[in-house]
Amino acid sequence: MNINDYGKRLDAADIGRREHRSFVGGLWDELGEWQLQMMCGLGGLTRDMTLLDMGCGCLRGGVRFIDYLHPMHYYGVDVNASLVHAGLHVEVPAAGLAAKCREENFSVRADFDASAFGIEFDRAISVSLWTHLPLNHIALCLTRMSAVLKPGGRYYSTVFEVPDAVAWLAPASQRMDIVSHPAMDPYHVTAAHLHAILDWHRLPLKARRLADDTHPRGQCIWEFERLPY
Ligand SMILES: C[S@@+](CC[C@H](N)C(=O)[O-])C[C@H]1O[C@@H](n2cnc3c(N)ncnc32)[C@H](O)[C@@H]1O
Repeated sequence: MNINDYGKRLDAADIGRREHRSFVGGLWDELGEWQLQMMCGLGGLTRDMTLLDMGCGCLRGGVRFIDYLHPMHYYGVDVNASLVHAGLHVEVPAAGLAAKCREENFSVRADFDASAFGIEFDRAISVSLWTHLPLNHIALCLTRMSAVLKPGGRYYSTVFEVPDAVAWLAPASQRMDIVSHPAMDPYHVTAAHLHAILDWHRLPLKARRLADDTHPRGQCIWEFERLPY
């Protein structure tokens, strides 16, 4: 069984019909703007910072971040080449932002390793990435992300969360009639799972759930701050 549907590649006709927007979950304007406002507010993102978007998709948030940040300060990684292509070659030019980003700032890979960019990032974000990934992938993602954040840098990731290990075993109702699962897309986690991943892997990260309830689909936001060396 596939862990999620993101192995599917969109072709030129799909992208011409803008199907990439619905493939990443729709709410294109709402969730794009939500990401920017969340990072500029709670995330303390300023224009001069470097930002890594892990699971950037077709740049629903990316086009807003590219517009906001200094040129070439936005970086994206995603497993799906067709989504990155749609973002970079359709959405970015359509927004008049082609001069503010370049192909070298994007990487298509499945292992969450962004070290080849050679950057220590100020900020990082994953919106609706972990909701499509099982726990072992989240552990790998957190491990890789901790290695590319600068000391004091902060990574924000959204999850469907359930209160405890018993609730984790059963399907859970989320906003907008979404049902999350322990081992099927969309996935949920507990706070204890996230803290345990940091402990098991001895990651130099301080974690906390933000007191924010504004995600349109009810995803919680977790902040991971890179501890100093
Ligand atoms: C719901 S979409 C969200 C995309 C983007 N963050 C946004 O808000 O529009 C989930 C994204 O996670 C990506 N993804 C899934 N597994 C991944 C992996 N192992 N590494 C990187 N990206 C992955 C998918 O290809 C897809 O673009």
